[in-house]
Amino acid sequence: MGSKLHALAEPIAPFPLDVSCAEVHQVFSADPDLLAAAVVDGGRPVGLVNRHEFLVQLSHQFGWALYAKKSISVLMDHAPLIVDVEMSIIDLSRLIASEQPSALLKGLIICQGSDYYGIGTALGLLRFNLAYNRERAVELELARLQAERANRSKTQFLANMSHELRTPLNAIMGFSEILQQQLYGPVGDARYQDYAADIYRSGEHLLGLVNDLLDVACIEAGRMQLDEESCDIGELIASAVQQIVRRAEKAGLSVTSCLPDDLPLLRVDAKKVRQILLNLLTNAVKFTPAGGTIAISTGLARQGELFVCVQDTGVGIDEADIPAILENFGQAENELSGNNEGVGLGLPLCKALVEMHAGSFHIKSKPGVGTRVYFILPASRLISVAA
Ligand SMILES: Nc1ncnc2c1ncn2[C@@H]1O[C@H](COP(=O)(O)OP(=O)(O)OP(=O)(O)O)[C@@H](O)[C@H]1O
Ligand SMILES: [Mg+2]
Repeated sequence: MGSKLHALAEPIAPFPLDVSCAEVHQVFSADPDLLAAAVVDGGRPVGLVNRHEFLVQLSHQFGWALYAKKSISVLMDHAPLIVDVEMSIIDLSRLIASEQPSALLKGLIICQGSDYYGIGTALGLLRFNLAYNRERAVELELARLQAERANRSKTQFLANMSHELRTPLNAIMGFSEILQQQLYGPVGDARYQDYAADIYRSGEHLLGLVNDLLDVACIEAGRMQLDEESCDIGELIASAVQQIVRRAEKAGLSVTSCLPDDLPLLRVDAKKVRQILLNLLTNAVKFTPAGGTIAISTGLARQGELFVCVQDTGVGIDEADIPAILENFGQAENELSGNNEGVGLGLPLCKALVEMHAGSFHIKSKPGVGTRVYFILPASRLISVAA
């Protein structure tokens, strides 16, 4: 459907300027659907007759006697809205709304160059808009389906690739570990052992990345499920801290944890909560310069929900960057970005996993001061207060 005025213009025969009001009356009486007509002088529009206004004037007590024999010029609108047929319907709608709303009631004249082309009415505009909106809705629905299909293929591709990559990676890691440990006898030169250790570390890094990609694909496809069990959040935190503490100390950071004794047991997917904790602690280690501290704490909030907070004294994040780093592959520029081997999947994964537990995920940060990332699990996830 074209969006120019050709679609709107009704080819209503115009009146010549010398037609009498009585003749115009005859035409309007014969056609009850005729709402407006143009008056032309040698093809050029000079006025518009609106059915309602014209009939009101004529039916006035002396209207017929006064006007019947006179030229239509006495009762026509001398300054109607005249627009070119090449104008877009959107522009016309804007023009009517902002400058000449009366054209909606009276009608308007559509020209091609300086010649009369047709009449536009509110009814025509309404019909056009209805058809146009219907067509747009169909187009949008098609585009939505197409985007959904493309997204599904992308997710499927990610899932397949991740599976395909995991098998050889496991072999690489398994065999490099065997070499490193010299399980079947000495490898000779000590450098072989170093290389095997490098291969193992690289494999481990790649496996982490592939696992994250697989998780993203599963979440996007709605296939990620929670494997819920009752677990002790204090223990989960302590074991996550233990896993990163060596790396933190090597980076010149101190790690503290504040875990109240009377924490309740939680009904959560322990593997996923551990994944969240490790992601947050790893970020804190990566983005805090030597000499800094990392503190992890947990406890019950006012409404009985449980919070877990990882706080660091690192480089911080500009507030404007926070929405972007919560998107897949979103990373912010900072002086430690160069050392970052990650790809920007940790935080969006954490957020999605917290939300799968019906919790909420928050980041508060100040560049140069530090970052506080915390998540809140609803009270419905608490099972009991540990003895
Ligand atoms: N504690 C933090 N302090 C400062 N910046 C942070 C912190 N945590 C995250 N960021 C910023 O947010 C970005 C995204 O974090 P995210 O964990 O999603 O990805 P990543 O750590 O870069 O890679 P991945 O987690 O996939 O290995 C980081 O690259 C960093 O710019
Ligand atoms: Mg990360």
